[in-house]
Amino acid sequence: MTDPDGQTEPKISVLFDAATIDKRVKELAHEIAQSGLEKLLVVAVLKGSFVFTADLLRALHGAGLSPEVEFITLSSYRDATISSGHVTVLRDIESDVRDRSVLLIDDILESGRTLAYAKDLMAARGAKVVKSCVLLDKPGKRASSIDADYMGFECPDLFVVGYGMDMAHTFRELPFVGYVTTE
Ligand code: IMP
Ligand code: MG
Repeated sequence: MTDPDGQTEPKISVLFDAATIDKRVKELAHEIAQSGLEKLLVVAVLKGSFVFTADLLRALHGAGLSPEVEFITLSSYRDATISSGHVTVLRDIESDVRDRSVLLIDDILESGRTLAYAKDLMAARGAKVVKSCVLLDKPGKRASSIDADYMGFECPDLFVVGYGMDMAHTFRELPFVGYVTTE
C-alpha cells in the first residue's frame, strides 16, 4: 500500500498473538518463582521491555513473588534497525544492587551485547545473582556467548515490532508481536 507521498506503508503480520503471549508470560512467572531468587529486584531494560515487564510483574505477583522494580535505559540501536554494536547507559537504575538477586528483563536477545553489558554492570556493582529473562530469542545473530535464563519464544530472524517494541519509535502500542512486511 502507498501513502499520498507515494511511500510504501509498512504492513504488520502477527507472529505471536496476545493470548499466546499471555499464556507464556504466566508460565515464565511460575518458572521464575520456582528458582528461589531472594531479595528480588527486577530491572527492566527500556524502552522495548516495558510492556513485557508490566505483564510479567503482575504474573510474578500471581506466582507468589513480591519483587521490587527498577528501570535502566540502554541503547545500541538509536533510530536504526541494525545494531551499532556499542551499548550506552542512557538512564541508570537508582537502587543499590549489592547482595541482591537481579532479574534483567529485555524484549529481544539478538547479538547479546545489550544483555551481556547489563549483566556485567550488575555483577560489577555487587549483585549476588544476576539472571535474565527475555521475551524473544533470535539465536541467528549472536555475537556474545550469552543465553537468557528464561525465554518466552524463539523468534525467526525478522524485524519485529509491537508489545513494546518499535521500529523508529512506531508500533510499540500493538498488543501482539508482529513483523514488518512492505506488502
Ligand atoms: P542485542 O544487543 O543485539 O542483543 O540487541 C537487543 C536489543 O535490540 C533489544 O533489546 C531490542 O531493543 C533491539 N532489537 C533487536 N532486534 C529487534 C527487532 O526485531 N525489533 C525491535 N528491536 C529489536
Ligand atoms: Mg531493547
